[in-house]
Amino acid sequence: MRRTLLIIGGGIAAYKVLELIRRGRERGLAFRAILTRAGAEFVTPLAVASLAEEKVYSELFSLTDEAEMGHIRLSREADLVVVAPATADLLAKMANGHADDLASTALLATDKPVLVAPAMNPMMWNHAATRRNVAQLKADGIAFVGPDAGDMACGETGAGRMAEPAAILEAILEAIRGRLQPASRPLAGRRAVVTSGPTHEPLDPVRYIANRSSGRQGHAIAAALAAAGADVTLVTGPVSIADPEGVRVHRVESARDMLAAVEACLPVDIAVCAAAVADWRPAETARGKLKKDQAAPATLTLVENPDILRTLGHHDALRPRLVVGFAAETDDLIENATAKLARKACDWVLANDVGGSSGVFGGERNTVHLVRADATPEAWPEMSKAEVAERLADRLAEALDR
Ligand code: CTP
Repeated sequence: MRRTLLIIGGGIAAYKVLELIRRGRERGLAFRAILTRAGAEFVTPLAVASLAEEKVYSELFSLTDEAEMGHIRLSREADLVVVAPATADLLAKMANGHADDLASTALLATDKPVLVAPAMNPMMWNHAATRRNVAQLKADGIAFVGPDAGDMACGETGAGRMAEPAAILEAILEAIRGRLQPASRPLAGRRAVVTSGPTHEPLDPVRYIANRSSGRQGHAIAAALAAAGADVTLVTGPVSIADPEGVRVHRVESARDMLAAVEACLPVDIAVCAAAVADWRPAETARGKLKKDQAAPATLTLVENPDILRTLGHHDALRPRLVVGFAAETDDLIENATAKLARKACDWVLANDVGGSSGVFGGERNTVHLVRADATPEAWPEMSKAEVAERLADRLAEALDR
């Protein structure tokens, strides 16, 4: 997944940035936002954080923020920095190298491409000072999208209206495609299948047994493998999140359907089983809806579902070169994950500690250990699910190249 550091300046066009985030996420982009003091007058940190599903940063001297995520890291961890709306003031600061708040400091500290979407009154846009700043920024290699000409919120007409979210998004995708992808496609030519989400095991046509899996980790893995150049099929149970970009998506409901869909993808180089497959299903599925006035079933008989990971690990003819599973554990993380690795004959297990209030289910962040059959376990620091996915993609590429 590609990450954009979005710097939101203070202008009425800031409200359009919310749509940019929403549409960008639908296209598989991740956003981390810095909201300037003036930007916060137009959109709230809560609105931005809810749509981006990431913390929003605003103060340079917030000790907590600096401890968690220094401003240097903030500017380096993105693939691209986007300033929208880029006010006359922000452009002036950028052109002159000011660093007196978090936004300008991150812009000065970044080593990533920067795209700006200016928004201001036409007189300000045409002012000699702004013209000088824009010329300087272009000479410095800063990319521009817009501004458009037309009626302005201030009642005047002319150039200065921020480009529409769709145009900014295209410019972002273009920048990512053009400048970032060629160097980072270590999985080009590899085939992968990823399972994600929960399964639904029907009791009758309207009821089912399910679990709380959001599909976020599996979807992020599919996106990261695709971004690294792999040909990816995502086999997903019912989820409410968007399809990742650049991935073939196969939707299923039950564990048995998931297994059939996965087997139809073979042969593959990589299989990652991130789905929370229901271990059991009702022994019988009623053809019609079970009615309340009928005798309620005193007990529900369950039968075991096929284990997809185990089936792949033990596959005779078409075992993927690397089979990766997940282990959710509350106790003895490494021992249990190692036992699971052996039992299911997989190569790697990503073990997460689900004890306590880690909030891994449905959350954005994850703390995992990589347990491998042929190496000592690695503890990865807490990171976003997208970062877990990217690190896994890197490790898979290294292992396949060996
Ligand atoms: N898995 C699968 N098919 C199943 C059950 C699990 O592919 N029918 C995969 C999951 O996608 C995951 C791993 O196996 O990669 C999890 O194994 P599981 O035995 O379900 O472990 P936990 O969920 O950790 O539960 P438990 O420890 O109770 O076995």
